[in-house]
Amino acid sequence: MRDKMNNVSETDVWADKTHAEVFDYLHKMPKHIVKRHYETFNEGRLLKKYKEKIEGNKFFEIGCATGELYRYITTYMKEFTYHGFDISVPAINRATSKYPSDYFHILENGFDDIIEKHGQPDVVWCRDVILHQDKPYKFLNNVIKLAKNTSIVRLRTRDSGETVFDTDLSCQLHWDKYWAPYIVLNIDEMISKIKENKDVNKIIISRSYEILGGHNYRFLPKELYFTSAGTAETAVFIQKGDRVDGEVVVVYDDNQDRPKLGIIERVIRKTSLFFM
Ligand SMILES: C[S@@+](CC[C@H](N)C(=O)[O-])C[C@H]1O[C@@H](n2cnc3c(N)ncnc32)[C@H](O)[C@@H]1O
Repeated sequence: MRDKMNNVSETDVWADKTHAEVFDYLHKMPKHIVKRHYETFNEGRLLKKYKEKIEGNKFFEIGCATGELYRYITTYMKEFTYHGFDISVPAINRATSKYPSDYFHILENGFDDIIEKHGQPDVVWCRDVILHQDKPYKFLNNVIKLAKNTSIVRLRTRDSGETVFDTDLSCQLHWDKYWAPYIVLNIDEMISKIKENKDVNKIIISRSYEILGGHNYRFLPKELYFTSAGTAETAVFIQKGDRVDGEVVVVYDDNQDRPKLGIIERVIRKTSLFFM
């Protein structure tokens, strides 16, 4: 029993059917709220702002959960062809029960099958997945490599202090059952790691600062409970192309990004046991 309570797993939480129930809260919202939801968060704001600069229209989402981004993309960004991938069987089942099943795929063998079976995407969207991996940089690199042109991710960063990779010390409890990794990357280290991909020529960083410690049953290193750590929910827009003078352009476009919800939306959200 004690071992179960201490175990931190990057997969157990997503295999549980509660995941599909909790993450389907947007399904109850009308389209215009779904639009507002995605566009007020920095990763959606960056997609909207720079979408004309993206070459190609093949759009893959890694960690699509119950597929609500499909609804946003196919309604408001019709120029993209969407496919969603996830390791969670309950989440993909839920997505395919709502939307055409051809667009959703279970990832059984990591990223290996994706290009072979579905071709290489122009854009990869990966929101709130990297922070939950045991090896977040390996996963981030795989996302960058997968995209022909652009990757858009949301993860967690800290401006000061080293990344704590030990998931026993940096994790989050879900549904009174599962500890999942919750890793907060040092921002400068993250930028250096992205630059190691020689085909990347531009990185746009958009931090929404907030204290990460103490919310949503997170068990995090003590310094992440202080403003001095500079923790943030961070959107990163990564573009490939030729570098000028061998340099990668890094742009900071920070913005506090929580959507302002009305009373009804707040009630729906609350009753949906919202987790992020
Ligand atoms: C916190 S949820 C985020 C869901 C959605 N992207 C969002 O922003 O609401 C993380 C999702 O990533 C999926 N996931 C976790 N590890 C994954 C992996 N290695 N490959 C693909 N999907 C993964 C989980 O099953 C889950 O649906």
